[in-house]
Amino acid sequence: MGKYSDKNAVITGGSSGMGLAVAELLVRGGARVVITGRSQATLDAARKRLGENAVAVRGDVASLSDLDTLVGHVKSELGSIDALFVNAGIAPLTPLDSTTEEVYDELFAINVKGAFFTVQKLAPLLSANAGVVLTTSIANVIGMVDTSVYAAGKAALRSMARTFSAELLPRGIRVNAISPGPIDSGILETMMSVEAADRFRAERIASNPMGRYGTVEEFAVAAAFLAFDATYTTGVELAVDGGETQL
Ligand SMILES: NC(=O)c1ccc[n+]([C@@H]2O[C@H](COP(=O)([O-])OP(=O)(O)OC[C@H]3O[C@@H](n4cnc5c(N)ncnc54)[C@H](OP(=O)(O)O)[C@@H]3O)[C@@H](O)[C@H]2O)c1
Repeated sequence: MGKYSDKNAVITGGSSGMGLAVAELLVRGGARVVITGRSQATLDAARKRLGENAVAVRGDVASLSDLDTLVGHVKSELGSIDALFVNAGIAPLTPLDSTTEEVYDELFAINVKGAFFTVQKLAPLLSANAGVVLTTSIANVIGMVDTSVYAAGKAALRSMARTFSAELLPRGIRVNAISPGPIDSGILETMMSVEAADRFRAERIASNPMGRYGTVEEFAVAAAFLAFDATYTTGVELAVDGGETQL
C-alpha cells in the first residue's frame, strides 16, 4: 500500500513543471490523478510518463465550458476528489510601461478567473477532509520588477485561499496556498528569450539565501504535505523559496 493508495487528485496545469511533479509523487504513492493543460502533445507526454493511474483532460481553465467538461471527466474517472491542486498559470513579464490590455486580460482570465471557477466547479466533488492547494508566488509579497500584473493576480489567489478556507471548512475541507520562489520548472524559457532567461536566473540565484533554484520535486513534497498531511492547517500560504521572503 502506497501513502496515497485510494486517494484521488486533480491537478490543473499537471502536464508539465511543478504540477507534473506533484502528479508523479502522488501516482508513485498509489493515487489516481486527473491532470489538465491546453497542449494535447504535452498532456500526451505527461500521461505516458505517469502511466495508467493518470487521466489527461485537455482544457483551458479560463473557459467555463472547458471546466464543465473537466467536471464530467472527474465525475466519471474519479467520482470524488481528495486533493485539488489549482496550479495552472502563466507568467508573462508585465512591465508598467509596455504591458497591453490583451496581456493584462489574458493573465487575469487564466491565473485568477480560471482558479476561482476551477474551485467553484470542482468543490461539489471534494470529499470530506479534502485538501485544496492554490499555487501563488512569492511575487505577491515582494516588489519584483516587471511583475505587477502577475503579482497582483497571485495576491488575489492568496486572498481567495483565506476566504475559500472559511467557506469550505464546514465540510471539513482545508484550503491553503503554496508560494514558490524560483523553481526550475522551465517556465522562464516560455516567458522570455534564452539570453534573458539566463540573465534572470543568475540574478535570482544571487539574491536567494540558499543560492540556488528549487527543484520541482521539492515543490511537490510541500504541496502534497499541505494537501494530505497538514490536517490542522487551513488558510495559510507556505513559501517554498529557499528563504527568499523570510531571511
Ligand atoms: N516556476 C516558478 O519559479 C514559479 C514561481 C512562482 C509561481 N509559479 C506558478 O506555478 C504554477 C506552475 O508553473 P510551472 O513553473 O510549473 O510552469 P509550467 O511548466 O509552464 O506549468 C504551467 C502549467 O499550467 C498549464 N496551463 C497554463 N495555462 C493554462 C490554461 N489557460 N488552462 C489550463 N492549463 C494551463 C500548462 O499547460 P499548457 O501550457 O499546455 O496549458 C502547464 O501544465 C503557475 O501557476 C506559476 O505561475 C511558478
